[in-house]
Amino acid sequence: MPDGKPIYVLNGPNLNLLGTREPHIYGHTTLAEIEAACAKRAAEFGRTVVFRQSNIEGELVTWLQEAKDKAAAVVLNAGAYTHTSVALHDAIKAIGTPVIETHLSNPAAREDFRHVSLVGQAAKGVIAGFGANSYLLAIEAAALIANEGQNA
Ligand code: DQA
Repeated sequence: MPDGKPIYVLNGPNLNLLGTREPHIYGHTTLAEIEAACAKRAAEFGRTVVFRQSNIEGELVTWLQEAKDKAAAVVLNAGAYTHTSVALHDAIKAIGTPVIETHLSNPAAREDFRHVSLVGQAAKGVIAGFGANSYLLAIEAAALIANEGQNA
């Protein structure tokens, strides 16, 4: 990790409730357990993680802006803001840092209102539908992209 930059893992609304929130959809793994697993997986790639959650859209925008200079890449589960937030879309476009849209569930296989992703229309790529493992796949994608960026 010659650039020394962490992978930011940013989580949006209601993800603090993981473990008890609709476990038939989102599973029983808590956000704290996901954080620990992400840190472990990132370490295998020589990276650290900065892991945060907010229910507030603007806070996620601020953290994306911070990621511009401070993060190697961003894993973003914007929760419901995925489907509504022009502000997150614009922030992703503004920073240039690669963002991997990430979901526990597969929004494409759910209600119609989840089929549009304003985040996905600005993100580098999307990983969805693998439960808590989506985060680990996203960490792997983020680390690979970050290392490619260094070698480019
Ligand atoms: C989610 C999917 C979103 O549609 C939903 O609003 C969430 C969680 C997921 O991880 O599957 O809050 O982002």
